[in-house]
Formats: sequence, C-alpha cells, structure tokens
Amino acid sequence: MSEFAELSLGDKKYQFPVITGSEDEKAIDIAKLRDETGHITIDSGYKNTGATKSAITFLDGELGILRYRGYSIEELAEKASFLEVAYLLIYGELPTTAQYAEFENSIKMHTIVNEDMRKIFEGFPVNAHPMGVLSAMVCAMSAFYTGDKSGSDELNIIRLMAKMPSMATWSYKKSQGHPVNYPNNSLDYCSNFLNMMFALPVAPYQVNPVVSAALNKLLILHADHEQNCSTSTVRLVGSSHASLYASISAGINALSGPLHGGANQEVIEMLEAIKEDGGDTSKYIAMAKDKNSGFRLMGFGHRVYKNFDPRARIIKKAADDVLAALGINDPVLKIASELEAAALSDEYFVARKLYPNVDFYSGIIYRALGIPTDMFTVMFAIGRLPGWIAQWKEMKANKEPIGRPRQVYVGATERAYVSMSERA
Ligand code: SDX
Repeated sequence: MSEFAELSLGDKKYQFPVITGSEDEKAIDIAKLRDETGHITIDSGYKNTGATKSAITFLDGELGILRYRGYSIEELAEKASFLEVAYLLIYGELPTTAQYAEFENSIKMHTIVNEDMRKIFEGFPVNAHPMGVLSAMVCAMSAFYTGDKSGSDELNIIRLMAKMPSMATWSYKKSQGHPVNYPNNSLDYCSNFLNMMFALPVAPYQVNPVVSAALNKLLILHADHEQNCSTSTVRLVGSSHASLYASISAGINALSGPLHGGANQEVIEMLEAIKEDGGDTSKYIAMAKDKNSGFRLMGFGHRVYKNFDPRARIIKKAADDVLAALGINDPVLKIASELEAAALSDEYFVARKLYPNVDFYSGIIYRALGIPTDMFTVMFAIGRLPGWIAQWKEMKANKEPIGRPRQVYVGATERAYVSMSERA
C-alpha cells in the first residue's frame, strides 16, 4: 500500500510519496516539491536529507549496526580479507575463489606506478602532508591513465586499487630520507603495503603476521560508511561525469578534514598533549564542555551513531590485542580509556550522545604498527577507497543527475550601480 506525507501550506494541502528501504527506513520523496509548492527545503549539513538510494552499506546509528552488502562488519573483520571486502563492495557479491584470484592478479599486474609520476612526486617538499600529496598524485593519474577506449571504468578501478598503496608509501619513505620500494607481487595486499613502507635495502624485511592481520582488519573497518562527507563528495564530483581519478582525489581532500578522516591524527596528537600535560583527563573533559575553549574531544561524537560506533568497539579490542602481541605498553592507550570512561559518565556527553567513533582508537593501532601520525588519514583513505569506488559506480549505473542543490538567497536586494567617485 502506497504511503504519502501530507504538507499544508496556507489553505492548500499537498501529498508526497513515502518510500521505504529494504531495512524499513522511510523517506519523503520531494522531487516535485518546488514545482508543486514553489518551496524548497533547507537542511544545513544535510542532517535530515537523503541524497540517493543505495544498495552498498546499511548502518543503523541508534542500534550500532554496520553492514556491507548485508554482511556485518563484525563477521567481515573477523573472517574476510580486505580484498574480498573490496570486491564485495565494488561488485556487489563476495567473490568465488576464481573471481578472487582474478581480482587479486589484476591488481598485482598494475601495482607499478608510471615512473614519470615520480617526477611529479619529487617536486613536493619533504614536509608536505601525505594527504595533499596523495590527492594530487591520484588526480595526476587521469593524465597518465586515460582508461580503455570502451569507456569502461574497470581498468581505472583496478589501477586505483593497485597503485594508491604504492604512492601512499612514497611520502613516508621521502620523510625518512629512504629510497622508495617497488611493490612485491609475491606478497598479499596488506603485506605488500607494509613491505613498501618499511623494507630497507640493507636488510630483508619480515612482515609480522600480527601486524598484517591488524592492518587487514583496520582497512575492512574503514572500507565504506554510506553517505559520509568524503563519499558524498566522490558522488557529487562524479555526477558531473568527471573521471574516477578526479572524483577519488576530491574524496581524499574531503577526508583530510579534522572533523572527518583527519580526526585520527588529531586524536593521537590530543592524547600526546594530554600525556605531556601530566595526563589530567578531567581538565580536558572540562575544556571539551566549555564552548569558549575551542577544544573538542577528537574521536568523539558522530553524525549518525548515537549509542556507539561498532567499529570503535572492534578497534578498541584490536588495540588491546595488537599491543599485547607486540609487547607494547603505550601510555596513551591508558589515557584514551580514561577519557572514554570519564566522558561516558558525564552528562554533557551522554545528553549529546557523544561516544568514541572509529577514529578514537585507530591511531593507537597504527602507531603500534609503526605507521607515523601524519600517515593515519592516508591509511583511512586506503581503506575507504573500495567504498568510494563502489559508491561512484552505483551513482553512474543509476544514471543519477548532476548534483546541484538549491539555496535561499538572503543577500542584498536589487540596487543600482554607484560610480566610485560618488561612493563615500
Ligand atoms: C568520521 O559521517 C561519517 O560516517 C564519518 C565517518 C566515516 O566512516 O566516514 O564515520 C568518519 O568522520 C568520524 C568522525 C571523526 N570526527 C571527530 O572525531 C571530530 C570530533 N567530533 C565532531 O566534531 C562531531 O562530533 C562530528 C563532526 C563528528 C559530528 O558533528 P555534528 O553531527 O555536526 O554534531 P555537532 O558538531 O553539531 O555537535 C552536536 C553537539 C554540539 O554541542 P551543542 O551545540 O549541542 O551544545 O555536540 C557537541 C557540539 O559542540 N560536540 C562535541 C563533540 N562533538 C560534538 N563536544 C565536544 N567534543 C566533541 N568531539
């Protein structure tokens, strides 16, 4: 039975269809609102506005549910490889053994980056933030890799999955004054990344299976998250029919913001500052509650999760396991736990439903894996890449129109030009 929402404006009544998703989410379809009523809606930050119907990721912010194509992230993080999850997100189903082998082999055949792209890379200063470098290098891919003549994006998808990890490690190697490493196709995706990051010509690098498994889990947990800021950016840029590379580059830039993916770097810097300041978490809880302090508890709060971020729970346990397995005693983990406990019992945070999000504990693991702080958001981007690709593919497959929001104008009304000599 069709459902409708009724809108009264003055003495007129209007009806708009209600659509229901496969998880019983409801939306009022206002496609005809302006034509019928002369009104638009306005919703700063799109807190109540759906941009699309998507079959990729379902999350329930109240119940703390997150599923990729119907599979729970708890199961995928425990049982799948990151490439399996990437395939699931991009192509819609978990791969068969043969499909997985073909996907992995295709990626391995494209891990080498055009040597001329290194000339672009060499132009960046040694202290350039890796996220700015990565977005520039991904955008530069559109100059070097024009895709196949059929117009299919398949080859560009494989190239991005294959080359982004390689390019991501270049910034780290340059910051260390070390030579970059070429990919090693005898290694799996995560081990290859770690080898490119940490191998040195002077001695063979042994990938620690605990580290590789932790990285695999982290990349899966970051792989997609429905219509977040960076994914919405990828879809919006792609809606103009800009290339996949240009769209992903834009997504990397959106992710770099400290309110979004950049928060994982901010969290560790915040925890370090608290440690340096004597570890008094109550002082920082008070600052976070004081609007005039300009301080936010980074890694806390979320636009949609209002009870807990399921990813944060998994990452917190993984942090305990990885640090124990590696024999690391990181004092900031204790500070993070104290901050979490203090905030979860404080009315300010409870009333605003502010809980640890995916970024609160992830930096502690990245640090234990030897990844430097300014590379944390790059790790987020590597994890989110298959999600961005899947969402971009879906937008194109649905032939969605170019995204172009309306506005309500609140500026000066019409006025005549006054020559400069006459202006006061
Ligand atoms: C990610 O959308 C996604 O799915 C994103 C992501 C993904 O996977 O793609 O999950 C990844 O970006 C996680 C979020 C990482 N960002 C941070 O950790 C930065 C710190 N958190 C925030 O700044 C904030 O919580 C946001 C940006 C995450 C959400 O902001 P909203 O939904 O716009 O909420 P808001 O800023 O309007 O805050 C509501 C209230 C305000 O207080 P009041 O004006 O009601 O009194 O909560 C307060 C805020 O001041 N508040 C905080 C706070 N976050 C919100 N107060 C102190 N510390 C915080 N961290």
